[in-house]
Amino acid sequence: MSDTARKRILTGDRPTGKLHLGHFIGSHRNRLRFQEQYECFFLIADLHMLTTKPDKESIEHIAEIARLIVLDHLAIGIDPAKVTFYLQSAVHEVYELQLLLSSLVTVERLQQLPTIKDMAAAAGLDQIPYNLLGYPVLQTADILMPRANLVPVGKDNESHVELARQIARRFNNAYADVFPLPDPYVEGGTLIGTDGQAKMSKSLDNAIFLSDDARTVERRVMGMYTDPNRVRADIPGTVEGNPVFIYHDTFNPNKVEVDDLKQRYRTGHVGDVEVKEKLAAALNHFLEPMRERRAHYEAQTGFVDELIYNGTQRAREEARQTLSAVKKAMGLSGAWNRISRAAEKRLKKQESA
Ligand code: TRP
Repeated sequence: MSDTARKRILTGDRPTGKLHLGHFIGSHRNRLRFQEQYECFFLIADLHMLTTKPDKESIEHIAEIARLIVLDHLAIGIDPAKVTFYLQSAVHEVYELQLLLSSLVTVERLQQLPTIKDMAAAAGLDQIPYNLLGYPVLQTADILMPRANLVPVGKDNESHVELARQIARRFNNAYADVFPLPDPYVEGGTLIGTDGQAKMSKSLDNAIFLSDDARTVERRVMGMYTDPNRVRADIPGTVEGNPVFIYHDTFNPNKVEVDDLKQRYRTGHVGDVEVKEKLAAALNHFLEPMRERRAHYEAQTGFVDELIYNGTQRAREEARQTLSAVKKAMGLSGAWNRISRAAEKRLKKQESA
């Protein structure tokens, strides 16, 4: 199928940290499938990061984290020839598009989204910055920029894709049919952190990263939370909800081994160390092909930068076309055309006089 016939996907990540197993399980593994079926645009949403982290230090780390995230994608098996990675802040047309779309949504509509308050609370803000209120409008500009058909997001971002759809519909009705209506693809599944207390997250220090080496994985697994009542190996333990067994179920393909461990754990016939050593081995087996792909790309100095560079050029070209269609549909390009044409005519006349 040619690219013009393929439906488009737009999704992305804020550059707040490298990817961990929770990202892989919750969303990024789906991208392996998407790259075969869709034309994929994956953005590094650094402008979105600015809505909660506008400090200079966070900004200084954007390039470094963008590279790590793209490398994580290549490590899991994303084909650099099949997808377009781009840096959001380098596509200036997106800023313009956000502003032009902002007359199609009310402040009340945005204030009613629980996500905005949640993000403000999580960032420790007691008031909402203007750009945080506009977060979903910027996301709408991201989505409509390449005229995406499908938008994979977590459950928490579903309402933002619905807003994008509403804004697209309003634009098409008010001006001209420019945008396909984007559908959300709600991704599911969270992974509990190694502490067993909350979902895996870099900020809670309960994560195993896709880029962790074998020894780091072993160390993190040996420190994992298990059944706290099981102070000795001969005490029957609880398997259900135990993060060590959740990981075994998720990452250990050897079901016979997992069932045997569970059975012995329940009856007090296995030590935590054995259960954890087998988990570390399974995780390292799972991560090993990623390490190999990562090393392959890392050995090519500048490869990732060139990939982001070319992808950003490609995204800019798309954005230019969309923005020009938007301004034409609105009649906005006409205003400047009339004024500039008349002025140029006059300037020419003065020159020849
Ligand atoms: N909001 C997403 C996040 O939580 C990042 C993002 C920005 C995004 N723009 C997007 C996701 C457009 C999907 C589509 O990190």
